[in-house]
Formats: sequence, C-alpha cells, structure tokens
Amino acid sequence: LSDLNLVIAIDGPAGAGKSTVAKLLAERLGLRYLDTGAMYRCVALAANRAGLTAQDGDAAAALAQGLAIDFGAGDPPSVWLNGEDVSEAIRTPEMAELASALSAFAAVRIELVARQQALVQHGGWTLEGRDTTTVVAPNATLKVFLTASLEERTRRRHNDLEERGMVVPGDLARQIADRDHRDYTRSESPLSVSKDALVIESFGVSPGDVVDRIIAHLP
Ligand code: DC
Repeated sequence: LSDLNLVIAIDGPAGAGKSTVAKLLAERLGLRYLDTGAMYRCVALAANRAGLTAQDGDAAAALAQGLAIDFGAGDPPSVWLNGEDVSEAIRTPEMAELASALSAFAAVRIELVARQQALVQHGGWTLEGRDTTTVVAPNATLKVFLTASLEERTRRRHNDLEERGMVVPGDLARQIADRDHRDYTRSESPLSVSKDALVIESFGVSPGDVVDRIIAHLP
C-alpha cells in the first residue's frame, strides 16, 4: 500500500491521547486528519442552540442532516459549523457531555458515520474517535486502540482545559468516568476494542513514541 491509500483509525476512551497522536501521525505520514468527535460536538452545539436536550436524539439527527461541518487549517484544525468558527465553543465540558449523550442515538450516528466514511473512502487519512476501528473504518490499514487509566486521562483533560483557559470542573474525574460508562455501555456502537487492533497503553509514553510504535506496525 502506498501512503496515499493508507487509513489509520485511532480508537479509545476520552483523554487517552487520541487527538494528539492522530495529529502527529498525520503530520509524520502526510495524511489528512479527521476528528470525528468534533462532528458529534458540532451536532451538540447546534442542538443546544436549538433548545434541544440530551433526550432529543431524533430531533438532533434531523438537525444534523442540515448542518455544514468543515475543518480548516491550523493546529489543531479549526472547526466550522454552518460557516462559523466553533473551534472553542465545542470544547467545553457541557458540549462534551451533550455530544456523548446525543451520540448514543442511532439516528445521529447514522448521519455522521455516513459523512465520515465518505470523507475517508479514498484513503490518505488518519481518523480518531470511539467507533472508528469498529464501525467507521473496520477495513482500515491499521487500527489502534489507545488506553490509559482514568486518573491519567483526568490529569490530561485537566491540563487541556487549563491551557485553553477554561474552567476545570471540580468533579472532572467523575464526569470522565460517567462519559466512559455511557460510551462503553450504549447499545449503538459502544466503545470496544476491535480484536485486530493494536492496543497501546499510553501512560508514561510520549506521543512521539506512540506514533513511532504505530508506524512500526504499518504493513
Ligand atoms: O472525542 P471527543 O471527546 O471529542 O468526543 C465527544 C463525544 O462524542 C464522546 O463522548 C462520544 C462521542 N463520539 C462518538 O460517539 N463517536 C466518535 N467516533 C467520536 C465521538
């Protein structure tokens, strides 16, 4: 396979380091980078603005069909919703919560998975998110499942939020644990380890070293 056809899918729970690793990997291999979670967060933001709540999955899915979601340049890539730069607005803990809740609805997933598959179908992508190895790109060249303990993932999210100048919720660990629980136990595409995925424990390993290990496993 030439690099142009490569698809590398990075799966795993919140805070495992998927984004950092996927971005670095894309840079190293000259692939484009798809943040599937950002798309769920865009649906959450649009739903929230439309007055919908965590229970309104069908209405959110209908709304999602009409949304233009685009990625711009930058590191991290900017995220655009109907022509508006929502890069910051989608990164709040509230939008993480609502994205997690709405992503449990089949109708929402069907809409976004179809878009994600259309984007990566010709190869040349690294994509990250909680169903990328199992549903979006089960035939990816390489599938990676990144893990780290809840404590470590909480520490990273804490630093992330602080760096962005955002308020760090006092019960951040609880929020991440709840989100894990919901993402792992939902009936629609639960977070799970694809049996042919390369599992990497990211605690104490630098993103660069994780990327080296991934590259070493490419066929
Ligand atoms: O990766 P993230 O934190 O930006 O994702 C936000 C939420 O979106 C996450 O809690 C679950 C959902 N999500 C999903 O269900 N499937 C994906 N491929 C990506 C995200």
